[in-house]
This record gives sequence, structure tokens and C-alpha cells, in this order.
Amino acid sequence: MTTVAELEQDPHAFLARIRPVGWSEALGGWVVCGRELAMQVMRDPETFTVDDPRFSTAQVVGPSMLSLDGGTHAEHRAPFEQPFSLAQTRARFTDFVAEETDRLVSAIESLGSADLRRTVAGPLSVAVVAYSLGLTRTDAATVLDWYQDISSSVSGVAAGHPVTAEGAAAFAELHQHVAGSIDQADSLIAEAAHAGLGTDEVVANAAVLMFGGIETTEAMITNCLWHLLTNPSELALVLADHSLIPNAIEESLRLEPAAAVVDRYATRDVTLAGASISRGDFVTVSLAGANRDPAVFTDPDLYDVRRANARRHLAFASGPHICLGMHLARLEAVSAITALLTRLPDLRLDATSPPPYGLVFRKPSAVDVSWVA
Ligand code: HEM
Repeated sequence: MTTVAELEQDPHAFLARIRPVGWSEALGGWVVCGRELAMQVMRDPETFTVDDPRFSTAQVVGPSMLSLDGGTHAEHRAPFEQPFSLAQTRARFTDFVAEETDRLVSAIESLGSADLRRTVAGPLSVAVVAYSLGLTRTDAATVLDWYQDISSSVSGVAAGHPVTAEGAAAFAELHQHVAGSIDQADSLIAEAAHAGLGTDEVVANAAVLMFGGIETTEAMITNCLWHLLTNPSELALVLADHSLIPNAIEESLRLEPAAAVVDRYATRDVTLAGASISRGDFVTVSLAGANRDPAVFTDPDLYDVRRANARRHLAFASGPHICLGMHLARLEAVSAITALLTRLPDLRLDATSPPPYGLVFRKPSAVDVSWVA
């Protein structure tokens, strides 16, 4: 049996063995990892739902777009669709993201070595989420504290423990801040409230923006740095031609999607590519597995910054829960990778810097680098 520890280390051999679908004893559920089948599951919320009492996020922050399906999902999500569209994302965030990236890279430029996860990727992701919630830069550290308390409470609930006191307190504080700024802030949150969501619903969805936007974006940037710095010939191509940066990011999302899985529960008995799934079964869609489906991607394990179909990855999911923040996350990643490659000459990964790791959120725990200051 492949254990959880082995899957955290490297799930790809297991996924290649069971593709397109198989049972995982360690996870206690079905793993869907063929690209076609993964899309089929994510686009059929009537059969494969997120709306199940076992879903731990809803137990901590209340019902939100992440934990609902059908008509109520649409009601929670609709007010955010326009503000997160490509055009509005660019209009609202481009300057802030550029200034914040500049500030963070300027702070390390003269040092010659740093962990780019803790100094750039993490702080940028937190600052952008804080800004989108209508909070100021000085509140970013507080937002990170809330996120950490709420997310460890969510993980505890998933493992069968009650909501922690810290998680409940952090959510109460988030509630107070977001509710208090609904009327004043020129933020996405204010727009959502004006579009008709009640305060509790606005706050639950604000918490989901935090969940969606912090660890994932940090991971998206760190994974891309790791792929570039461990593939010197691909890095050379990108350094010689910066127009390859967006595709280098897509290709990294394909190989190691920051959110490696999305979870569903079967609402009826159903057969998927010969697998007999019973009502109530846990079904996890491995985006990491779908993204290396050899039927779609030739040499699927290779990092190829010029891969023509890299964007066919499913790192941002598919169907009604497709990532709301994907344009924003791409904006942040392009900004961060461009600034780092431009301003830190002769960038190199330390030999001891760790590879991506993790079952759900998959990323290196650090990106230790040095450069010529
Ligand atoms: C600023 C950055 C981001 C924000 C604000 C954000 C926000 C969200 C929100 C609100 C949802 C829930 C949508 C719904 O349920 O209808 C979502 C879903 C999702 N996001 Fe993002 N996200 C961000 C970045 C990312 C990144 C970088 C990744 C991965 C590379 C990612 C992967 C996903 C996935 C896979 C889902 C689907 C979850 C599911 O189907 O169960 N997100 N995102």
C-alpha cells in the first residue's frame, strides 16, 4: 500500500500506476487522475459535491462558495465574478502588485542570499489578499496570523478534532474587521456586500479568499522558482527571452499544481472508467495527476518552458468551482518571477534547498538561493 507519507513525498509514481482512477487505502477514497475523467467529475456537482458535512472548511467559517453547490453556490459566487474578471483584476491590482513586489525585492537585493519563499513569495501573497479584503499593508501580518489559526483549525476538524479556540477567535476577529469595513472600503468585499450578500456570507467568502489566495499563490511562485532553478537549460531560455515567463509559470503549474487535489463526495452510486463508486464515497481529484496525463502531455514529467499546450493543465480546477483568483495569481507570479530574474543576477539554488512536498498544498518549504549582489 502507498502510504500518506509516501504520497506527500512524491505522489507521481502512484498516480501513474492507477490512472485514470483507483482506490487509495491510505486516503480512504477514490483518486481520479486522468485528465478527461477529472474534468468530468469537477463538472458534475450533482454527482460529485463539495456540500457534505465532512467538509471541514465550512465547519470553521460557515457556508461559502467553496462548500456549496447548485443555486446557493451561484448566489455566493456571483458577486465576486466581475471584480475578479481579467480586466478588473488588471485594473484594480496591477499597480499594487508591482509596488509590493518592488518593495520586497528591494529589501533583499543587496543581501546576496535569502529564502525567496519567506522574503518574497509569502509576503506578496499575504499583502495582496489583505489589500483585496480592504485592509491596509500594516494589517498583512494580522491577516497571516488569522490565516494560520483558521487553517490549522480546519486541518484539525478534517482529522476529527473540534474547532480550536484559536481558530474560532481568529474567525471572530476577521468577522469584526471585514464587517466593519464593508461600508467604507473600496474593496472587492464592499462590492460583494453591495451586490446583496448578507454580512455573515460576505465574511465566510472573505475567509475563503484568504484560503484560496495565500498558501496557493505562495506555492505557485515557489514551485516555479524551483523548476527554473533546477532546470538550468530552461532557465537560460527564459533569461534570454522574458516573454517565455508566463509559459514557464503555466508549465510549473502543470508539473506541480499548488493545490494538488480537490475533494468531492459521491451523491449516488456511479461507475467511472470501470470503478464502482458508492453513494457517500470520498472522491479526490488529483489535479497533479491529471496534469501529467500522457494522453495529453508528451513526456509529461519534463519541465519544458516552450511546451505548446502547457495551459491545458487543470491547476485552477474546472467547472463551477474553477478558481476565482486565477488572473490575480498569474499577475502576482509574473510580477514576482520577472522581478527576481531581472534584479538578482546569477541566481542559484543552494544545494540543500528542499523539493516540493505535501499532499494538498504542494511546495518546497524554502527556496534558499544566492546571487551576485
Ligand atoms: C489571489 C489568489 C487566489 C484567490 C483569491 C483564489 C480564490 C479562490 C476561490 C474563492 C475559490 C473558490 C471558488 C468556488 O468554490 O466557487 C478558488 C478555487 C480554487 N482555487 Fe483559487 N485562488 C487564488 C489562487 C489560486 C492558486 C495559485 C491556485 C493553484 C495554483 C488555486 C487553485 C484553486 C483550485 C484548484 C480551486 C478549486 C477548489 C475546488 O474545486 O474544490 N487558486 N480559488
